[in-house]
Amino acid sequence: MNLLESCGELGSVVEVGCFRGVSTEAILLFAAHVTAVDPWQGLDAIYQQFVTRTAGYGNLEILRKPSLDAAEELADGSLDLVYIDGAHDEASVRADIAAWRPKVRAGRWLAGHDYSPLIDRGAVMRAIDDVLGAPHRVFEDGSWLFQC
Ligand SMILES: C[S@@+](CC[C@H](N)C(=O)[O-])C[C@H]1O[C@@H](n2cnc3c(N)ncnc32)[C@H](O)[C@@H]1O
Repeated sequence: MNLLESCGELGSVVEVGCFRGVSTEAILLFAAHVTAVDPWQGLDAIYQQFVTRTAGYGNLEILRKPSLDAAEELADGSLDLVYIDGAHDEASVRADIAAWRPKVRAGRWLAGHDYSPLIDRGAVMRAIDDVLGAPHRVFEDGSWLFQC
């Protein structure tokens, strides 16, 4: 919530990695349009929970496919925020940043979860620091924010 509040007005937002939709629902409250990207591979019951949780929101589009496939469908410079919380290994986080950073409008936001040395042995943190330098802000829940 603190991250979302600090982003200013949000038009189009993508969340990568949505699981049960807890974070998606928070984003839905702040953004005009949200695209939820997740293959929910082998997670049909979880996907049903996501659909139930988000059923009341008219500003949601679901792309049930992997991050990199979904990124190909969106135009460069078209998004106000991409929140990355998908696969947490270092290579995947690097690939997600490379695929989604060009989709963000200049001056707007790339963000995600789990910026911590304690999570996945620091894999997420390492990938972010290597590719982006460092986030501009890190929040109490491990969310990170980078201005493009
Ligand atoms: C940590 S959970 C997301 C939690 C959610 N953001 C929340 O806070 O409520 C990680 C999610 O990433 C998804 N995921 C794994 N690989 C992915 C990929 N290549 N592209 C998009 N999502 C992926 C998983 O299916 C899972 O639902």
